[in-house]
Amino acid sequence: MSTNGSDFIVVANRLPVDLERMEDGTQRWKHSPGGLVTALEPFLRSRSGAWVGWPGVADAEVEAFEEEGLRLHPVGLSAAEVRDYYEGFSNGTLWPLYHDVVAPPVFDRAWWESYVKVNRRFADACASIAAKGATVWVQDYQLQLVPQLLREQRPDLRIGFFLHIPFPPVELFMQLPWRTEIIRGLLGADLVGFHRPGGAQNFLWLARRLVGLEPSRGAVGVRTRPGVVQVGDRTVRVGAFPISIDAAGLDAIARSRETQARAKQIREELGNPKRIMLGVDRLDYTKGIDVRLHALHELLAEERITAEDTVMVQLATPSRERVEHYKQMRGEIEQVVGRINGEFSRVGHPAVHYLHQSVDRRELCAFMSAADVMIVTPVRDGMNLVCKEYVACRYDLGGALVLSEFAGAASELTSAFLVNPHDLDGVKNSLYAALTVDPAEGRRRMRALRRQVLTHDVDRWARSFLEALGTAAPN
Ligand code: ADP
Ligand code: G6P
Repeated sequence: MSTNGSDFIVVANRLPVDLERMEDGTQRWKHSPGGLVTALEPFLRSRSGAWVGWPGVADAEVEAFEEEGLRLHPVGLSAAEVRDYYEGFSNGTLWPLYHDVVAPPVFDRAWWESYVKVNRRFADACASIAAKGATVWVQDYQLQLVPQLLREQRPDLRIGFFLHIPFPPVELFMQLPWRTEIIRGLLGADLVGFHRPGGAQNFLWLARRLVGLEPSRGAVGVRTRPGVVQVGDRTVRVGAFPISIDAAGLDAIARSRETQARAKQIREELGNPKRIMLGVDRLDYTKGIDVRLHALHELLAEERITAEDTVMVQLATPSRERVEHYKQMRGEIEQVVGRINGEFSRVGHPAVHYLHQSVDRRELCAFMSAADVMIVTPVRDGMNLVCKEYVACRYDLGGALVLSEFAGAASELTSAFLVNPHDLDGVKNSLYAALTVDPAEGRRRMRALRRQVLTHDVDRWARSFLEALGTAAPN
C-alpha cells in the first residue's frame, strides 16, 4: 500500500490516450476512441486524479506519467492477452451478450482465464497506488472482477463500479458459464451503477438467484432510490445513473465563429444540398449503420428524396478491427455504400460520403452544426453520446434528431423522432418526417431536447454517482 498515493483513481480498460507506433519507429499519443473516454476525460482532467488503464497496444512498456494534470498509470497487456482478454472475452463474449446477443457470443475457457488474469493485474495496479481510504472508480464490462479482487487486498478503499453498456435481460445473462463469478466480482463494490433502472433491477435479481442474497425489492429510481443488498457485513448499493456529455463545452465550440464558418464550408464542399443527413459512430455492429443505409436506399429508390437534394455523411471510427464480427460488418456496410453510390450518385456528387476515420472535436461540431438531420439508429446501446452531442451543438434550435428507441438516451430525449430500428418502414417514415419537419415544430422539439441535455451534463452524472458512493467529487 502506498502511504502518499492517489486519493481518487479511475480504472478503465483504456487510458484516455492511445499509444500509436509509427512506421518510422517513433511513437505518439492520440485520443482514445469511444464514449467512456469522451465522458470521463473532461470530468477527471478538471480535477486532480489518477487514471489506470491499458495504453492501447500490445507489449508496450510505459512508465507512469503526468499529462495536463492527470496522472496516467499504464497497465501492459501481452499480444496473447489482447487476443484473449480484450478481443476475446471482452469483445467476443461480453459485448455481444450484453447487447441482446445481436451477434452470437463465443464462450471460450481460455478467454475467461485471460480475463481473470488481466482483471487481477488491474486490481493489483490500483492497490499499489491508492492512498489509505482512497476512492477507486472501476469502469465498464472489461473489469467486472476488479471490485472484488481489489477489496480482498484493500478493504480500506471505497470502491464504485459503473457499467457503460447495457446490462442484459436475466435470461440472456444466464447463458454465461461464468455468471456467478461476474456477479460476485461486481458485489465487491460499495456502489454498482448502471445507465437505466432496468439494468440495476436485473443485477439485483441475479444477486438473489446466483449468490443467494436478499436484495431490496423496491423499484430503483433514476439517480434516486438505489437498491440495497447486504453482503456479509457490507452494504452494497445498486443504482441508475444515466451518463452524459460536457454539454456546455460543446455548446461553446458550436457557437464559435470558426465552427460556424467550417459548417458553412462543409455544406459548400458537399455541393450545397438542400438537406444533409449525418451519422457518427464507432464502426460497430450494434450501431445500426446498415439500418440507416437501407432506409436511405429505399427513400432514393422510391424517389421520395433525390441525391441532388439530400446527401448523407457517415463518419465511422475504426474499431476492434481484428474481431470477426467487425470485419464482416465493415465489408457489408462498404458494399451497401458502394451500391447506393453506384445507383444514385453523379460525377462529383456522391449520394453517401463515407469516411472510415475519426475526426477531431471541432470538426465533429462543425459537421453536427451543418447537419439538418442526425441519424442515430443502434439496435442496442447503453446510452449513446452522439445524440446528446448533436443536441448540445444546436444552439440555433435547427436540425432534427432521429433516435432509436433501443438507445439508453431515448428515455431522456423523448422529443426526438424515435424509431424502432427493426422496422424499416418506420425508420424511412421518421427519416422523411425529420427531413421535411415544419421549422416551428423542429425548433420546439430541439428546445425540449436542449433543456434536457444542458441541465443533465457529465458533471451532474459524476457527482450523483460519487454522492451515492458516499464520497465527494475530487477538486
Ligand atoms: P460508444 O461509446 O459505443 O462508441 P457513444 O455514442 O457513447 O458510443 O460515444 C462515441 C463517442 O465517440 C462520441 O463522443 C462520438 O462523438 C465519438 N465518435 C464516434 N465516431 C467518431 C468519429 N468518426 N470521429 C470522431 N469522433 C467520433
Ligand atoms: C465503448 C465501451 C468502452 C470502450 C469504447 C471503445 O464506449 O463502453 O469501454 O473503451 O467503446 O472501444 P475500445 O474497444 O476501442 O476500447
